[in-house]
Amino acid sequence: MKIVSILLAAGQGTRMKSDLPKVLHPVCGRPMIAYALEAARAASTETPVVVIGHGGEAVRDYVGDAARCIVQEPQLGTGHAVLQAESLLRGQADLVLVTYADMPLMRAETLLRLVEAQKANPGPLTLLTVIADDPRGFGRILRTTDGMVQAIVEEASATPEQLRINELNVGAYCFSADWLWDALHRIPLSPKGEYYLTDTVELAVRDHLAVQPIVSDDLDEAIGVNTRVHLAEATRAMFRRTARAHMLAGVTLIDPDSTYIEPGVTIGRDTVLWPNTHLRGRTAVGEGCEIGPETIIVDSQIGQRCKILKSVLEQAVVEDEVDMGPFAHLRKGAHLCRGVHMGNFGEVKDSVLGPGTKMGHFSYIGNAVVGADVNIGAGTITCNYDGVRKNQTEIGEGAFIGSDTMLVAPVKIGRRAKTGAGAVVTRDVPDDTLVVGVPARPLKKTNE
Ligand code: UD1
Ligand code: CA
Repeated sequence: MKIVSILLAAGQGTRMKSDLPKVLHPVCGRPMIAYALEAARAASTETPVVVIGHGGEAVRDYVGDAARCIVQEPQLGTGHAVLQAESLLRGQADLVLVTYADMPLMRAETLLRLVEAQKANPGPLTLLTVIADDPRGFGRILRTTDGMVQAIVEEASATPEQLRINELNVGAYCFSADWLWDALHRIPLSPKGEYYLTDTVELAVRDHLAVQPIVSDDLDEAIGVNTRVHLAEATRAMFRRTARAHMLAGVTLIDPDSTYIEPGVTIGRDTVLWPNTHLRGRTAVGEGCEIGPETIIVDSQIGQRCKILKSVLEQAVVEDEVDMGPFAHLRKGAHLCRGVHMGNFGEVKDSVLGPGTKMGHFSYIGNAVVGADVNIGAGTITCNYDGVRKNQTEIGEGAFIGSDTMLVAPVKIGRRAKTGAGAVVTRDVPDDTLVVGVPARPLKKTNE
């Protein structure tokens, strides 16, 4: 059976008061349409169709190959939006799933439930409803006294009595395709001058065909984002959902409400996350780590049994048993090998620190390859930038860099070499050699 999804994303999103099209506003690091697309793809057999309009080109650029985009111009309502897909899809699918791209919390499992219910429904449509105390401006579900769904009435045209109904239209539907394409042409113009998709319910009832409701018990899924207040609600709900999944998978969150894990992050068992920790993008954290409080990790790989306190990491790799912070900063291309200790107020960029190397206090290491078991004294700086280009520093294994050493790159420090406190190293230092002063000169062999 062929199942195709249509995502509606053409609306102006006026209530967002933004230059950015509504569906491109991020929720937990990804545009909200990304979630809707992912769920739609998982629940259908064909490439989804996205109906675009306002800010359409930006949406099309973002969507890329993940869907086929069609333009709705002008935007005359959700029913009119689906109608735009008719010429592309008529005869191409048996079932049509329709959702709104402004519902980032909608899960693929729920869409699949709609599809399964519609496969068994002799009538032409199945729709998702939710029972909620706060109506949020949603359409109300009208039922007969014996519980049959009769119609959806939009808030703007509801009577005071209808406004009290607490069963709401979530905005996810599965239609039998043949019936849908004809019904769309029969939708009446609303008093607001739009063609509402929700009026297909009344059309089915008038055709004496069964409308199948599925009542969802997940209120979060129904969060449709119309304003930035809703955007914050959706973001909060998404973080809560992700946090819960990690806790159930064996991660300790000291305070889930102040821990911000983006979808797509992986975390190993028995890792503990302290409050105000943000794990973003394509980040992977190993088992048994202790992260935070106050730590931001973006697009980074963290090994096992690491301790990271009050630090910021971006595009970095941290191997097992690294201990860092507070106030450590790893920038793009930083790679700390197993057992590195990096203390407070250090920055590492485009550099490898070898296994067991220690960098305790106030250092900047950029464009450097540092061997194993090196001691980097307080205040050591790689002077890697000469105003034109970035130059490389190499430090051999077992070297001892004295406090406040300036390593003027390009420069190489030999294995087991030492620099005295305050040295300004402008020339390569051979293995096993101690250099001191400004500019640094050899004093004697360290092994003598
Ligand atoms: C809609 C439903 C309402 C439901 C609510 C759930 C209708 C008429 N009403 O109301 O019953 O409770 O969602 O969140 O369907 N869009 C287009 N083209 C248009 C108009 C809208 O593509 O011409 C898109 C929008 O970009 C949006 C979606 O359809 O993604 C829903 O439109 P919106 O204006 O947000 O509808 P609601 O007022 O939220
Ligand atoms: Ca909406």
